Amino acid sequence: MATDSARRIAISTGGGDAPGLNAVIRAAVLAALGEGWECAGIRDGYNGLLDPDAYPEGGLMPLGRREVRGITHLGGTIIGTTNRGDPLAYPIRQEDGSVLEVDRSEELIEAFRKAGINALIAIGGDGSMRIANRLSELGLPVVGVPKTIDNDLEGTSVTFGFDTAVAFATECIDRLHTTAESHDRLMVIEVMGRYAGWIALHAGLAGSADGILIPEIPYDLDSVAAKIAAREAAGQHFSIVVVAEGAHPHGGERSVIEYEPGQSKRLGGIGHRVADQLAAMTGKETRTVVLGHLLRGGGPTTRDRILSLRFGAAAIRALREGITGCMVALDPPDVRYVPLKQVTGRMKCVPVNSDTVRTVRDLGISLGD
Ligand code: F6P
Repeated sequence: MATDSARRIAISTGGGDAPGLNAVIRAAVLAALGEGWECAGIRDGYNGLLDPDAYPEGGLMPLGRREVRGITHLGGTIIGTTNRGDPLAYPIRQEDGSVLEVDRSEELIEAFRKAGINALIAIGGDGSMRIANRLSELGLPVVGVPKTIDNDLEGTSVTFGFDTAVAFATECIDRLHTTAESHDRLMVIEVMGRYAGWIALHAGLAGSADGILIPEIPYDLDSVAAKIAAREAAGQHFSIVVVAEGAHPHGGERSVIEYEPGQSKRLGGIGHRVADQLAAMTGKETRTVVLGHLLRGGGPTTRDRILSLRFGAAAIRALREGITGCMVALDPPDVRYVPLKQVTGRMKCVPVNSDTVRTVRDLGISLGD
């Protein structure tokens, strides 16, 4: 479908940012230029097309060799992103304060047509792939590129951004070890991970945590407190517990700090909650560190750079070969294309019997169960 018509390609970055977005953009633009194609970045997800008046400099940013020079190692995204303003459920505030969600997908397709765009590379997580799938169903040739530090996207063995987040979280845990040990303290480190505990699991294991709490395994703090007590008895007077923001107790809810109608719930607070409870249970002096958006900032690791560059170039190859309505995906050692339909509406959670989880158990780290 796209082979002969994909001459002017739009690139969009949607949802929370992740290290590697710029590397994808650079690879896609350079590969497209190699085909003799033109690229433009849509500002802030799809807002540059849906709300062009908000952009005096233009809602579309021309992307040529000059614009993508020297950006592989930069965090963030040069075209901007948003996790608000889903075009399939665009929130419009009413006079009475309520929020009406409107499907603007047809309008968006028309905006693509008017801008002379005939293919889209949509870089994002689950929400972005759902939007990409809808645009593809409406006839736009679309290739998705999987991004999220949470690594919870189906269809790919890993998303870019994850390795960087884990590397940074591990470094933080290493640093917290020395201060925890000096003061005989318990340190609770909260990391991102709404529905999936990949970051907590990997950073906790790599950073030699004593407890790791993930959304996939509802916790009971008695077993974590018992682990801390056993360490005390063995003369180790400090402990490290890593908690994913979406972790929750048995029969309990995730910890939500804000909920606006038309938006997804903002999670937060679980680190402090776990720390307070463990302090009371163990009598240990306790501190909490919330890594939050630090995990999304900064430049990508080498591994994430390579993955992002491979994904960006593969997206252009897909368009060249007429493969659309798909997402590029890592199926080691290859990059493959999986239908967008297959990846949306599902979450890639940590399999609780995976080798990594079993390794955590074998090392005596408490998973709170
Ligand atoms: O990037 C994914 C994620 O990091 C989630 O783990 C987290 O809940 C969310 O983004 C927070 O995003 P924001 O603060 O940008 O709304």
